[in-house]
Amino acid sequence: MSNASSIRCLITAGPTREFIDPVRFISNPSTGKMGFALAEAAVDAGWTVDLVAGPVALQEPDGAILYPVVTAEEMYHQVDALFDACDILIMTAAVSDFRPVQKFDRKQKKEEAGLTVKFERTIDILKTVTERKVHQTVVGFAAETNDLETNARQKLESKQLDWIVANEVGAPGAGFAAETNEVLLIGADGSFKKIGPTSKSAIAIELIQRFVETVNGR
Ligand code: CTP
Repeated sequence: MSNASSIRCLITAGPTREFIDPVRFISNPSTGKMGFALAEAAVDAGWTVDLVAGPVALQEPDGAILYPVVTAEEMYHQVDALFDACDILIMTAAVSDFRPVQKFDRKQKKEEAGLTVKFERTIDILKTVTERKVHQTVVGFAAETNDLETNARQKLESKQLDWIVANEVGAPGAGFAAETNEVLLIGADGSFKKIGPTSKSAIAIELIQRFVETVNGR
């Protein structure tokens, strides 16, 4: 049983960028708001918070230790280095699933650049670190445009998570860049709860309250 001040929480937030050349990259519209709101709620709950964030335009939450990263590869190495010491990993980051096979060191002039870029998969950070979990509670996020619950349950199982937080992207007042959100919280223990629509910080507070029970039970 841990008390609040001894809980160490590892949160990832924001997008990653996968560069084609020094001035061009592939990414996604994640702003990091949900992850930063969770970091704030976790600090307020008295937890020690490591926050690994891709490029975002948000103020560093007071009391959290920020580790800025850019690419999926960098995020993986940072999470890998911090995972063993954490009691709970909350993976809100919108990690780019693909990266260019080749990254050019010099800007490609448009006359010489091809119009085709070949991509390869990035490492699945959550799945990879979860394979060596011992006591850690692991929480994933699923952003889906359709079949929200079915897809989220599949990810809960395939990534061996304790919880998955699912939200529909494209729904009004939810998803990337929105101030508010509406999520389904699904647990490996069979629990199911809809939270919202409400502010991302209200959702974050409720999620942290929920996770504390799982962490304390280990
Ligand atoms: N995730 C990860 N590493 C990746 C991709 C995703 O750790 N390379 C994590 C995300 O941070 C999130 C969860 O896996 O917590 C689900 O991410 P999502 O993008 O919804 O799912 P994918 O596994 O990428 O599957 P798909 O894109 O096919 O829906």
